[in-house]
Amino acid sequence: MSAYENEIKQAVRTIENWPDEGVMFRDIMPLLQDAHIFRKLIDSFVHRYQKETVDAVAAIDARGFILGAPLAYELGVPLVPVRKKGKLPYETVSQSYKLEYGEAEIELHTDALKAGDNVVVMDDLIATGGTMLAACELIKKLDANVLEVAAIIDLPDLKGSERLRDAGFNIYSICQFD
Ligand code: PRP
Ligand code: ADE
Repeated sequence: MSAYENEIKQAVRTIENWPDEGVMFRDIMPLLQDAHIFRKLIDSFVHRYQKETVDAVAAIDARGFILGAPLAYELGVPLVPVRKKGKLPYETVSQSYKLEYGEAEIELHTDALKAGDNVVVMDDLIATGGTMLAACELIKKLDANVLEVAAIIDLPDLKGSERLRDAGFNIYSICQFD
């Protein structure tokens, strides 16, 4: 692990047994409170994608917005919010996905992307991968292309990154927690 990756990992705060017993919640808020680290974090995502052909950044409701917005701004490309059900006012495509308990649904405006657009999908964390996979499905429904899914944190034990890889998506994460 590089010094940078270690710095990011050390800044993530772990809250045990939140929101449920047995969950180790990986909290990115301390990363945002440190302006120096937050700048480095966004700069590293910008550095990764600035030489790629990126047509849009899709950012997942809600923590993905925090990262996706500055990335889209710096790359000079559109920001496409992927929202939880019932929040988007125009015509939408939607995709349901499984949570640990029950189901959830996310949506995209039908005019959010053009066919063939290359999209980076941004969130803070990949756990079971259900949210990211659903977002990728929405992007495919609009005939756009997922260039890569990006997150600060991967929880490989929950097999989300494996599911995403098996589904053919490229994944970038800065640090992993067991
Ligand atoms: C968290 C996180 C990811 C998702 C990861 O979001 O920000 O979007 O869970 O879990 P998964 O890989 O098992 O799908 P959450 O739904 O808690 O919403 P929030 O961003 O509004 O806090
Ligand atoms: N979303 C799903 N699992 C999570 C975890 N362990 N920490 C933070 N966000 C999460």
